[in-house]
Amino acid sequence: MASVRSLGFRTDVMLRRMAGATVEEREGFIVVRTTANPTFYWGNFLLFPQPPEAGAPERWLRAFEAEFPEAAHVAIGVDGVDGALGAAEELRALGLTEERSVVLTAQVLATPRPADPTFDLRVLRTDEEWHQPVEFRESVDEDDSAGHREFVERRVAEFRALTEAGRGVYLGAFVDGILRAGLGLFAADGLARYQNVETHPDFRGRGLASTLIVEAARLVREQQRVEQFVIVADPSYFAVDIYRRLGFRDAEQQVQWLRPPRSVG
Ligand SMILES: CC(C)(COP(=O)(O)OP(=O)(O)OC[C@H]1O[C@@H](n2cnc3c(N)ncnc32)[C@H](O)[C@@H]1OP(=O)(O)O)[C@@H](O)C(=O)NCCC(=O)NCCS
Repeated sequence: MASVRSLGFRTDVMLRRMAGATVEEREGFIVVRTTANPTFYWGNFLLFPQPPEAGAPERWLRAFEAEFPEAAHVAIGVDGVDGALGAAEELRALGLTEERSVVLTAQVLATPRPADPTFDLRVLRTDEEWHQPVEFRESVDEDDSAGHREFVERRVAEFRALTEAGRGVYLGAFVDGILRAGLGLFAADGLARYQNVETHPDFRGRGLASTLIVEAARLVREQQRVEQFVIVADPSYFAVDIYRRLGFRDAEQQVQWLRPPRSVG
């Protein structure tokens, strides 16, 4: 999509399209809408081409509410590569909080230290296997509400549809038949984007995530041409250093503004 400059948002929008979302151009912004998963914040958001000038945040919020009248959240992306925030105070005054991520890229990945050989790496295929990422997320996430489970089920259904369509892989590491780490890697137009890199807390630090990242890259390259692998990380969390050790280099900063649903009760 030519009008999205940053690799971070270009691959976000690419993945949304691949998963069946609509992407509509409006005067001054883009609307990304995932009707199959309306509570997915970054499946239902507005993308503006540059940071807000003074006075713009109020209009941005009204635009979001007009596009998503039913949404309990507000999610607004700012296309850019340098992390510029613009009229941040006005957005904060409207209850939004910024999240600045680092977008990393690699053309070739390094070889990780060998993972524990008792783990069985495989691309998920069967119904039984596809049930496991949902259970896995339930065991890792703190939110055990019905709404959260539904959200996770819909996300996993997306990963399954993309994997079955040959657009990439959801790769898992199993021990004794139970999924203990997993990630998605999906690609189009020479760009492959990682999703949901996660290892069960009891199985961390054994090389699982590193091995999955490298193996997924190899598998997706077998399926299609990949010029760049893209991964997005929190710059203050140690995972970003795992990615750097595997050969990823910092390429951009991504800015996302979010107001989560107000908690009830
Ligand atoms: C980030 C995460 C996926 C890493 O999974 P993992 O399977 O433990 O990763 P690995 O075992 O491959 O560890 C890679 C490196 O991190 C190091 N490491 C592991 N836990 C660490 C910790 N708590 N603090 C600092 N370093 C740590 C390991 O020593 C290892 O280094 P090495 O390869 O140089 O020896 C896992 O911690 C996780 O699921 N976190 C929560 C979800 C998340 O935030 N994902 C990242 C989204 S950007």
